[in-house]
Amino acid sequence: MSAKSRLALGIETSCDETAAAVVLDGKQILSNVIASQIDLHQIFGGVVPEIAARKHIETIFPVIDQALSKAKVTLDEIEIIAVTYGPGLIGGLLVGLQAAKSIAFALNKPVVGVNHIEGHIYANVLAHADLKPPLICLTVSGGHTDLLYIPEFGDYEILGRTRDDAAGEAFDKIARVLGLPYPGGPEIDRLAKDGNRSAIEFPRGLASEDTFDFSFSGLKTAALNYINHHKQLGDKIDIPDFAASFQWAIVDVLLLKTIRAAELKGVKQIILSGGVAANSELRHQMKDAAEPLGIEVFFPPPILCTDNAAMIASAGYFRYTAGKIDDWDLEALPNLQLTGSRK
Ligand code: KG4
Ligand code: ZN
Repeated sequence: MSAKSRLALGIETSCDETAAAVVLDGKQILSNVIASQIDLHQIFGGVVPEIAARKHIETIFPVIDQALSKAKVTLDEIEIIAVTYGPGLIGGLLVGLQAAKSIAFALNKPVVGVNHIEGHIYANVLAHADLKPPLICLTVSGGHTDLLYIPEFGDYEILGRTRDDAAGEAFDKIARVLGLPYPGGPEIDRLAKDGNRSAIEFPRGLASEDTFDFSFSGLKTAALNYINHHKQLGDKIDIPDFAASFQWAIVDVLLLKTIRAAELKGVKQIILSGGVAANSELRHQMKDAAEPLGIEVFFPPPILCTDNAAMIASAGYFRYTAGKIDDWDLEALPNLQLTGSRK
């Protein structure tokens, strides 16, 4: 390891994954441990915050130990402790923050608070080490759908965001009504592969309006009406056709607005981030639509799209090297916004 190499320990507990990772110089993953709680929440059809927080308490230190041992480093060798401080579920955020602060305090190391959404963006830096702004970033997760212009890392202009449900939330809600397991996004993605995306005409929220905002509530209502109507008539729903048409209604509008944003800003690179960026149709169609226009599309491998701590370690490293260190009073902020991030 060179004299300037810096190791960051990342900690992520904002939702239902207890995760810790060790990253070298913000770009090289030495370990990336993710303890998913999905099986605990699946019977409830979604994340139960109280159960999530209790499980984070049980799991956080074993997960950190595992991240260190997989990376073959000791806590003493870690230079930066990076932790998600929002947005997310308050109980989980508190567990991660307390763990991070305790380690940092005991070992006299700096703690760096990371905005979870900024973390998702840095998953692209881990996957594509030479990536350089300006970028258009589509962040699509269970809680967020944001279209961002990034003139340089750390500077985010929000061009648009959802006015109601997030894209991932729409996937999860409709999957639940269909009786599919939580989280529904990957299930719909899988089923859609055998379906015809033109089988059912679903609405494209705000597609023809002059805004970069998104809306998925009309689509959700149309999908629910379709399911209920078929149930009342006793008709069987063709699930692959339904999944493909529903997914395409989301992806189509995401494509349209993201490419329009790149053209407006004259930006030649698009990055996708967040759990829904793992969607195979979104990845494939975004490339197909952008590349003929001379616009490159980047996305992380699926394991770095969904929640993980490597992305938090990376974002924390770059905050630290820009001189941004937090105090012991760093608080959990469940509703933290990207523009609200300290610059
Ligand atoms: O980023 P993430 O792991 O957690 C949040 O910060 O919300 O995103 C989780 C969301 C869930 O809504 C899940 O259904 C969705 O990402 N998701 C997908 C896929 N994989 C995960 N949605 C569509 N297609 C996928 N392949
Ligand atoms: Zn996330």
